[in-house]
Parts: sequence; C-alpha cells; structure tokens
Amino acid sequence: MAEAPPQHGGNVHQLARRLNCHPRQILDFSASLVPFGPPPSLRRALRQALNDHVAPYPDPSHQALREAIAQSHGLDPDWVLPGNGAAELLTWAARDAQSLINLLPTPGFADYQRALATWGVVGRSLPLRLHWGDGPQCWADALAEPRMLQSLRPHPTALWITNPHNPTGQLWHRDSLEPLLHAHDLLVVDEAFLPLVPGGESHSLISLTAGFGNLVVIRSLTKLFAMAGLRLGYAIAAPERLQRWSHWRDPWPVNGLAVQGGLAVLADPLWQRRVWRWLAGEGPWLVQHLSRQCPALQVHPGAANYRLLSSGHSLTPLQQSLAQQGILVRDCRSFTGLDDHWLRIAIGSRRHNQRLVAAMAAVLKKLDHHPPATQTSPS
Ligand SMILES: Cc1ncc(COP(=O)(O)O)c(C=O)c1O
Repeated sequence: MAEAPPQHGGNVHQLARRLNCHPRQILDFSASLVPFGPPPSLRRALRQALNDHVAPYPDPSHQALREAIAQSHGLDPDWVLPGNGAAELLTWAARDAQSLINLLPTPGFADYQRALATWGVVGRSLPLRLHWGDGPQCWADALAEPRMLQSLRPHPTALWITNPHNPTGQLWHRDSLEPLLHAHDLLVVDEAFLPLVPGGESHSLISLTAGFGNLVVIRSLTKLFAMAGLRLGYAIAAPERLQRWSHWRDPWPVNGLAVQGGLAVLADPLWQRRVWRWLAGEGPWLVQHLSRQCPALQVHPGAANYRLLSSGHSLTPLQQSLAQQGILVRDCRSFTGLDDHWLRIAIGSRRHNQRLVAAMAAVLKKLDHHPPATQTSPS
C-alpha cells in the first residue's frame, strides 16, 4: 500500500522499520528539536522520578508545575494549564472555536486542522504570500488576499497564528499581532518555537493575556528541551477558559514523569541561552553551506530552527534517496499550498548538518539537478 505523505515530522520509527535498523541510527531532520538535548537536568530528574512518580497518580491540578511555569512568565498559576504536549491543548482551543469561522494561515501547521476536525469543523485557508525574511515581519504585509478578511467582517472569527510560522520560520512582530485582538473573537497564538529564537521572547503575546479574554497562547516544551517523547506543553489564557478545558479532559493528561521532567528543565537557567547561541551560529552556517554546495536548491530565510528549501524540480527523489541513507527530511505536501518542490529541514548539530549537506549535494549531483536559470522568489 502506498504511504500517505506524513502529516508531522519525526516518524523515525517508520523509516527504521523500513531500513531494518534502530531508530537511533536515523538522522532526523524532519522534526525540529534542539539537537543536543535533552538537558542533563532532565535525565537526572527522570531517574529520580522512576522511583517516586511512576506508581502514584500525578496531582490532577498540576499545581507545582503550574507554579513553575507561571513563575517563569511572571504570571499567576491560575493563568496556566499544562498539557500532554501543545497538540493536546490545540484540541481544546479548537473546541472553544467550533462555533466561529476559523482562519488558518496557509501554508501552515496541519495540526490546527486536525484539532478543528475533532469537533466537526473545517478551517478556512488564509493564504500567506510566500515572500519572507528572517527578521520580524509585519503580519498585515504577509496576507496574500487581505480583502478576504473584510468580506468576513460581520461573522465571528477565530484566527490561528504560529509565531514563528511553521513551515516558513517567519517571525511575526508583536506590534503587528496586537491589533488582531480587536479584530477576532478568538486569537490562538501558537508560540511552540518562539523560545528557541534569539530575541524571540520580545514578540510573545503572553503579557497581553491578562487584558484580553479572547487570547490563548500555546507553548511547547518538547522542541526547546528535546523531550517530544515525554509530551509537555502549556496554555496561557484567562482562568475561566482554562477551568472549562480542565473539565473537558481526562483527569491526568500530564503523566508523573513529564511533570518531574518539566519542573527540572524549567529550573535550568542556562539552557535557553545555550540554544540561542547554537541557533545564531548554526542557522547561518547551514544556509551558507547548503547554498554553496547545493545550488539547485533555494534556501529560504527563517528565524526558527528549521528552513524551507525549494527547487524547480520535484524534491521527492532527493527525499527518497536521503531516506535510503537513513536521513529523514520533512515532506511538505501536507502543508496546504506547498507541493513536492518543497522540503523542510531542521537545523541540527554541526556534525549532522555537515552530513546532511554532503548527502544532499551528492544526491543532487547524481540526479543532475541544475540551479534554476533565474533565482526568483517563490509565489
Ligand atoms: C507549530 C507547532 N505547534 C505545536 C506543535 C506540537 O508540539 P508538541 O510536541 O508540544 O505537541 C508542533 C509540532 O511539531 C508545531 O510544529
């Protein structure tokens, strides 16, 4: 049976089964996680938690974790709700949004559509122009069809923002997002990758949650601390909204190991700075070396720890050939508006980035791909 294009990155298990190897042998550039994690503090906490936090039920109020998260943002714990990854919380945001017209910037993260579909809702595409930079951009300038919003004016709307955007990596300027709070009945701002971006925190909308009951900010700890297998994220929003969500979900959505792991990494003050230093150095390195050694690829700018690549040719043969070598990159066909001419790659460690660039250059040479005659921006 032909495999459907993946909806998410990170399915190293599938490729490992196909290559008959251990998942650890797969070089995964399809999920954008910090490559040198998880932090030692997490490993230590988990060893201890195996003794103390596997047998008992976790505290259903997640009080200690809510306090730690709240403290890291200077908030009251009632404004915080931990979840089984950001993905779980998106499902509850979608339930709140089910009676509204849901606007999904495209190309965009497919999980918002999944969350809405849980409640029988289909989101509407809000096309973005495919021109972006690596600095913070004004949201309004990015809309390909701004008139579409005017035509919806009398209807109540929910807008789903990803900052920085996935898959483009475009960072939205906070000042340009603020007016959206007056224009939409619900604004869901997914800041899953924002804590990784040097200077990114200044574009967070978290500090606005106190003044706007229609704002929900979702954060993930899985990328920053490379703990996607443990599953941990949180929502920041008005306490009434979060209490409503708590009543909807199962009593122990965050397991005891994830709680202890979360407490440990949140108490690690140096980690985020280390991540910023790595991204500030490794992002430009990867772009420079890919551009030089793979001239058939256009490497698009971005602020996050991933980059989009495009080509005048289908990139499926490149992707398949890399997979044969145990290198996984993100198929972009599940992003509305992108096709097989696009791939997304995570930024890894220097050693892994070198392997990726060398493998890509060798495959492209074999495929005899040439640079496009004129390097135009995609539209
Ligand atoms: C933009 C975005 N938001 C949320 C998530 C889900 O994060 P988590 O692992 O915390 O569920 C992802 C995962 O790739 C993502 O790309």
